Amino acid sequence: MNLLPDNLKVGIASIDSRHTEFWDLYIALKISDNKTFLDTFETIIEHTKNHFSEEEADMRKIVYANQREHEQEHAKALEEINYFFEKAKSNKVVFARAYVNERLENWFRQHLLNMDSDLARAINMSS
Ligand SMILES: [Fe+2]
Ligand SMILES: [Fe+2]
Repeated sequence: MNLLPDNLKVGIASIDSRHTEFWDLYIALKISDNKTFLDTFETIIEHTKNHFSEEEADMRKIVYANQREHEQEHAKALEEINYFFEKAKSNKVVFARAYVNERLENWFRQHLLNMDSDLARAINMSS
């Protein structure tokens, strides 16, 4: 269990627990060996699909001005992660690992600090 860094918490339990789960899987993927890389990659994709649809369900419960933009970012991220998973499956593991190490964590941090924090503010304001 690798705890989500404090500066990535938004203070809403449902959101923070999804992000903790992502973080754990991300660390597992990063340190995985070549035997477990593909399975761990698949697990993080499954998690991410659910993570995004739960977040999008949260958006629909409130009046959320940035819903469309936020959903588009989710769709783009899923497309990208799937693209690199396909690369990994066709033996381009080095390429996929470079994406994991150089891009995925930054994407997560930026998305969380911009869009997910924005969603948390909107949820807090509506309650
Ligand atoms: Fe999120
Ligand atoms: Fe999000």
